[in-house]
This record gives sequence, C-alpha cells and structure tokens, in this order.
Amino acid sequence: MLDQGSSVTRENAQRVLRDNDRGGYTVPTARLYPYQWLWDSGFSALGWQTFNEPRAWEELRRLATGQWPDGMIPHIIFHKVDPNYSPGPGAWGTSHQPPTSGISQPPVLATHLRWMLECTCDQALAEKTARELYPVLVRAHRWWRAARDPERTGLVAIYHPWESGMDNSAMWDTPMANVPTDILDPYERRDTAYIAVDQRPQKSDYDRYMALVTRFKRAGWDPEVLWAETPFKVLDPTTNCVLHRADRDLLALSDQLGIENDRAEIEGWIARGRTAFSRLWSETQGCYVPLDMLTGEKIEIGTSGGMLGFYAGVADDAQAKRMVQALEEWGRAVRYLVPSTSPLDLRFEPRRYWRGPVWPNVNWMIGVGLAEYGFSDLARRVREDLRSLIQSSGFYEYWEPTTSEGLGGAHFSWTAATWLAWIDR
Ligand code: DGY
Repeated sequence: MLDQGSSVTRENAQRVLRDNDRGGYTVPTARLYPYQWLWDSGFSALGWQTFNEPRAWEELRRLATGQWPDGMIPHIIFHKVDPNYSPGPGAWGTSHQPPTSGISQPPVLATHLRWMLECTCDQALAEKTARELYPVLVRAHRWWRAARDPERTGLVAIYHPWESGMDNSAMWDTPMANVPTDILDPYERRDTAYIAVDQRPQKSDYDRYMALVTRFKRAGWDPEVLWAETPFKVLDPTTNCVLHRADRDLLALSDQLGIENDRAEIEGWIARGRTAFSRLWSETQGCYVPLDMLTGEKIEIGTSGGMLGFYAGVADDAQAKRMVQALEEWGRAVRYLVPSTSPLDLRFEPRRYWRGPVWPNVNWMIGVGLAEYGFSDLARRVREDLRSLIQSSGFYEYWEPTTSEGLGGAHFSWTAATWLAWIDR
C-alpha cells in the first residue's frame, strides 16, 4: 500500500518536505516526531537543496541555534512545544534556549555542508552560509573530542543509544542490560499511540532510555560528571564513522573557504581516528562493531552501522573485501539490502525499528562509500533496492527487508530527501 496514496514522484517527495516544514525547520514526520532532530535535518537539508536552496541553508542555520556553549549540537531542538511527543523539554531539564535534549546524534553536518557547496546553483549564498556555519561545526567536532574522548584515543564515546540514531539496535542489548533503572522519573510513551508496538522499541528498552535521561538530568548535564558516571559508555561504529568522514570534509571545507586556523587540529583528529578504528574491526562479522568502554568487551554483531567503514574511508583493502563478502551474504538472505542487523544473526527482527529493517539514510551512506571504494555493482544494488522499496510503499521511515512492507512513520522527511538528492538525482 502506498503511503497516503501518494505516488513516488519528485513532486510528491517535495510535498513531503513542504508538509513537514514548520517554518525554517523540518520535522521527521508529523505527530510521531514533531521537533527538529539533528541527523534527520541534515538529510532533509540535502533534499531541500534540490528545489529550494535558501530553505536548505535555513534548515542548517536552525540547527545551529540549538548549539550549546560547549559546542554540542543536541539531537532534538524543541522549537515549539508539542504535547504529542515524549520525552519533551521538561523531561530533559536542560537550560538552553530554545529548549533542547541533552545528548547528540551522528554528526553528519560537515559532510552535508560540503556536498551542498559542491551542488549549489547559488554560489554566493552557499559560500556566505558555509562561512557562517563552518565555525559552528568546528566547535561541534571539538566538543566530541573534549567531552567524549578526553583521553585522546581517537574514538568518541556515546552515552545513550539515541545518540547512535539506532535506538534499539541489538548492538546495545548487552551494555543496556547493565543500566540500572533504580533512578527513573515517571514517564509516558507517546510513540506507540501512532505506530504498532511490534515496530517500536520494547518497554524494557524505554525504561532504560529514560533511566539514563533521569540520571544525566540529575547530574546537571555536566560533561565531566557524565564521563565519570554514565552507566552506558560505548564506542559506536556509526557515530565514529560519520564523525571521521565529517572530519575529512571539515578539512576540505577549510581549504575551500581558505580558513587556515583549525587545520592542524583537524588533521590531528583524522590521524588519531584512522589508527584507532582497528579497535572496532571484527573479522568474524566482516564489519566494524561497538566496544563497551565499561567492560572493555567488543560487542560481536553485524549491523548496517558497522558497514559505514566504507563511508568513513577507514577500511583497508582486505577489510573492504571482507565487508563486501558479508554484505553479499546478507543480500542472499534477504531480498533488500541493507538490513539494520545481519539477517544471519539470531537477534535479527525484520519489523522492529533498528533490529532488522532497511533505513534509507543508511543505504545512502553505505552506497556512497561502496561507490567510492569502486564496488560499483554492490553500490548499485544498495541504491536500487532502496528505490524499489520506496516505489513499492512510499515515503516510509523504514522497511521489512524481505516483504518490502513500509513500516514506522509515513510521509517521512529523510526518505523524501533521499529520493530527491540521491535516488532520483
Ligand atoms: C525517539 O523518540 O524514538 C527518538 O529516536 C529518540 O530521539
């Protein structure tokens, strides 16, 4: 069934973004996610750019209004309070204006800014806005290092599964089992009022998500206290791959804009990151895997996040071949690549949020990375599988990787943006 009867055309993809526009920022979808999310907006901006460049830049400028004094760009900015969503501003209890959450999300923005600068039809506007946003991004990347890698290992930690963007991935089962729920403010879930429960995280996950928020709020969101006391501290492949690529793009931007000041610092992040990635490599899974900093253990599981080593550009030849081999195995087990969990893993759940379904933005990043490594056939399959999924059911949030059933929210912004700026370009 097609999403709200809309056939998959460029015009309808544009309409999704227009319908989700709340005046300068785009919500991922109405009701389920009524605010501005960091990585969703990063992808929406790429979609907007294909038909309304000033509006695309505005999307990024509105994200910058959420930046904290220490540089963090939060994962949600609550521009206008909306009772449809929980946890809202009160549950987070942060002190920024506009109100925001207190954690971040995969830092896609420097890469997207660079792509937007490359694709612009309005060079003057693009350069002016890039100059305005470049220092915002340098501060954001610096925050990741200062707050989340104070020991300068080259890899940054996340403190909450929501920071990875892959909320209930099976990657988090073991570290989340160690998160105590003794400190937990009462909370109400709103997501299951809109979406079937078998497509959303379980209650046991939500208790722990909210226990982490309660604990961090009581610590006053102080980065040093959080570093010392968080019961969830993981080196996540998605966050680190996205950040590593974004570092490289930030360096390219500094060249392009002729800004010398931060070069040595950014080069240092890139050099340290490149060597540190070996800590996350799993020959068994054929991809990168998380490492739990509190136990020192790697979390052995194949996920689409772990396949972002192509996009980051950190895989050597042997690793890249091994990743291709693993992806090909996954592609024989399901009809559509790239499932969020390896379909060969017992934890694979094809309908449940980040535990199996295919996600459009992740296919985009993996497809780009595969093409850059020269694996053009597989890159094409990753893109064409996504095209078929969108065409079969519309602009859904995610899909069942065998039946092509559209799942989660409909009329979804990053899906429309992926269509406009990647699939249909
Ligand atoms: C949600 O509410 O499901 C979000 O992913 C949390 O940011």
